[in-house]
Amino acid sequence: MRKIRELKVKPIKNGTVIDHIPAGRALQVLKILKIPEGKNKVTIGINMESSRMGIKDIVKIENRELHSEEVDQIALIAPKATINIIRDYEVVKKEKVQLRDEIEGLIKCPNPNCISNADEPIKTKFYVVDKEPVTLRCYYCERLIKEEEIKFLF
Ligand code: CTP
Ligand code: ZN
Repeated sequence: MRKIRELKVKPIKNGTVIDHIPAGRALQVLKILKIPEGKNKVTIGINMESSRMGIKDIVKIENRELHSEEVDQIALIAPKATINIIRDYEVVKKEKVQLRDEIEGLIKCPNPNCISNADEPIKTKFYVVDKEPVTLRCYYCERLIKEEEIKFLF
């Protein structure tokens, strides 16, 4: 009997693979990366099988590495993501994203009355009070923010 091989997203030659993204969040990752029109090739896998996560999303960007600020933002919505740097088809670096204890300036506070949303803008700041699921607390107004809410705050 002929072996039926599973079709996977094709390997890339050079660039970055963001792996182990919770299923359904690949498009949020793309939003964070703001891929310029007509530049990098991007392949996306949504609801891919994963031995570790059941299902996962994956984003591959050719000829591009990530800025540390982008990695920090990805950590907020995909705390278990792995960032793989690919050179000449080989994984030359593999790094787990790391959620910091404090998040400064990356997202806005959902509380319209928060001083960080006033006319004179001050840089937002949140404490990470829990990492699983991600829970933040605004340094200024103490509003608690749940993981599902974070995607609306970029
Ligand atoms: N990858 C790719 N192109 C390459 C090499 C790897 O797109 N030229 C992708 C793989 O498909 C995988 C990720 O980069 O999704 C990491 O590759 P690798 O470390 O080989 O896979 P795993 O061992 O499964 O990684 P992990 O242990 O992090 O799950
Ligand atoms: Zn606030």
